[in-house]
Amino acid sequence: MIVREFRPQDLKTVLKIERESFADPYPAHLLRDIYNLGAGFLVAQEDGRVVGFIIFWIRFEDEGHIISLAVDKDYRRQGVGAELVRTAIGIFEKFHIKNIKLEVRAKNRGAINFYRALGFSEEKVIANYYEDGEDAVVMRMDLHSGGDSPYGHEY
Ligand SMILES: CC(C)(COP(=O)(O)OP(=O)(O)OC[C@H]1O[C@@H](n2cnc3c(N)ncnc32)[C@H](O)[C@@H]1OP(=O)(O)O)[C@@H](O)C(=O)NCCC(=O)NCCS
Repeated sequence: MIVREFRPQDLKTVLKIERESFADPYPAHLLRDIYNLGAGFLVAQEDGRVVGFIIFWIRFEDEGHIISLAVDKDYRRQGVGAELVRTAIGIFEKFHIKNIKLEVRAKNRGAINFYRALGFSEEKVIANYYEDGEDAVVMRMDLHSGGDSPYGHEY
């Protein structure tokens, strides 16, 4: 598996994965806008096929934010998601980001456990965060950019 930058020709497959992964998927134009605005957008490729993606950006100068992450159903539990997050962390560290945050649906226990396994912890709950009224759990990881992070200096 390789992790590489998103290319516009990946959009169709990314949309397929997005739609099978989320009840309220981002529409194509929004993904395109996010990409055009300069957000980090990486895909995981296995045997020439895009099997997962991560979208992230930097906000408030030193805070990394994971906007979206999804892996093709047939490729889950094979380390693809973890590799995408680790690669994004490596990029955040280059920009001396101090912490990373993300929101996840409170009922999405699989994703919450996934992020916990990677070292994130639950910071707070935001009630009614999603359009359908579901709460969000904000998860956070502190980085030690330039220090002794387990992911430092690899990328
Ligand atoms: C969450 C998601 C991205 C994880 O991707 P993945 O490639 O399957 O995850 P990995 O194989 O890298 O998992 C790494 C570790 O996280 C944990 N983990 C992953 N999925 C899990 C699940 N469903 N339940 C419990 N733990 C899980 C495990 O500890 C796993 O290690 P293991 O397989 O050796 O036990 C994937 O399930 C997905 O696309 N879900 C739908 C979209 C989504 O919920 N995105 C996140 C919200 S932004």
